[in-house]
Amino acid sequence: MDNFEFYSPTCFVFGKDTENQTGKYIKRFNGSKVLIHYGGGSVVRSGLLDRVKKSLDLEGIAYVELGGVQPNPRSGLVYEGIELCKKEDVDFVLAVGGGSSIDSAKAIAAGVVYEGDFWDFYKGKRIEEALSVGTVLTIAAAGSEGSPDSVITKEEGMIKRGASGDAIRPKFSILNPSLTTTLPAYQSACGITDIMAHLYERYLTNTEEVEVTDRLIEALLLTMKHEGPRVIEDPNNYEARANIMWAGTMAHNNSCGVGRSQDWNSHNIEHELSALYDCAHGAGLAVTMPAVFTYVLNHNIMRFAKVAVRVWGCQMDFEHPEVTAKEGIEAFRNYLISIGMPRNFAELGAKEEDIPKLVEILCRGDGREGSISGFVTLNEDDCTKIYKMMI
Ligand code: NZQ
Ligand code: ZN
Repeated sequence: MDNFEFYSPTCFVFGKDTENQTGKYIKRFNGSKVLIHYGGGSVVRSGLLDRVKKSLDLEGIAYVELGGVQPNPRSGLVYEGIELCKKEDVDFVLAVGGGSSIDSAKAIAAGVVYEGDFWDFYKGKRIEEALSVGTVLTIAAAGSEGSPDSVITKEEGMIKRGASGDAIRPKFSILNPSLTTTLPAYQSACGITDIMAHLYERYLTNTEEVEVTDRLIEALLLTMKHEGPRVIEDPNNYEARANIMWAGTMAHNNSCGVGRSQDWNSHNIEHELSALYDCAHGAGLAVTMPAVFTYVLNHNIMRFAKVAVRVWGCQMDFEHPEVTAKEGIEAFRNYLISIGMPRNFAELGAKEEDIPKLVEILCRGDGREGSISGFVTLNEDDCTKIYKMMI
């Protein structure tokens, strides 16, 4: 196991009706003027935004609002949010929504206290300082409610990149599984896929002897395997929603990623797809992961065989472990298809003729020098082959 520091100070407030305590938590974390930041309208239609505002009113907390965050959030609205916060003397940014609203809120929070262009953080500069952020989560997926990360797309060139820093970890996150019952089945499935991707990206490690985190990841994958189909079948199943919501947070606040190298090649390869085609991140991952895993299988066959046996119930073939490893990837792929995820480029809306462009931005965009690295290092030729496997 590698040395590590793990700092995860977010206060998680979990359960039914917890959104009514939002004002109380903003006060606890010293917010006095709040920007409420949300997406395209689901929180307006569900009445959630009104309930949150009421809880702020009850505590006498002033606020301004900025809605309109798109899935795969854009830099334009971040600039707008930064200006608004400066003008209104905002000291706390509250996201009400999914990963996109939360990531946009984090970018605004970091940008307000930074003199340069906030995009510097998305080009690799670490975020050391930010306004306080809080969240009321409406979809179990990205894990941004507990992560130190934010992913934004720069409109100019449609470049999608991540930024990181403990300063943007939310001070509190309100997790009420009931809020996720209004999700369309497709969005629920995208969330499930993303959560499982966050687990796989950590499972694919080059660090030896990481039994604790291996076992935690396997437990969370087994939970997702069991609960995923239950919410697709019955969107109102509170207990299944609850287990998925907490698994989503655990999958990405890095409690099961510490002390080990991680992969993230599938995420990097997918981010180009959601940037170019504006598809859902989870849907892009469903097409990307089986291709990447198959491509890198020989790097460590036993790692893939282990997850095949422990999570997907495959029989270990000791003479031909690669057979077991492949069965595990196939079982995962079939699971994703069974919950309604796309299986190839066409179903995602991606085009074969765009592959050179995807590879160029992936491997050369924003200072990269011809490759991406994680579990294995992938150059432009590798990435071209992987995208072709998705056709
Ligand atoms: O915009 P509204 O109207 O709210 O609708 C949203 C949106 O259309 C809808 N939705 C959310 N909650 C709902 C709901 N509809 C009905 N009922 C509800 N309760 O769902 C759609 C998707 O929302 P979005 O916020 O985009 O989803 P998600 O949480 O999957 O976030 C995706 C973004 O997070 C990034 C992704 O790249 C993508 O841009 N990621 C962020 C990470 C992080 N910060 O740590 C890590 C992830 O790997 C990921 O890359
Ligand atoms: Zn993700």
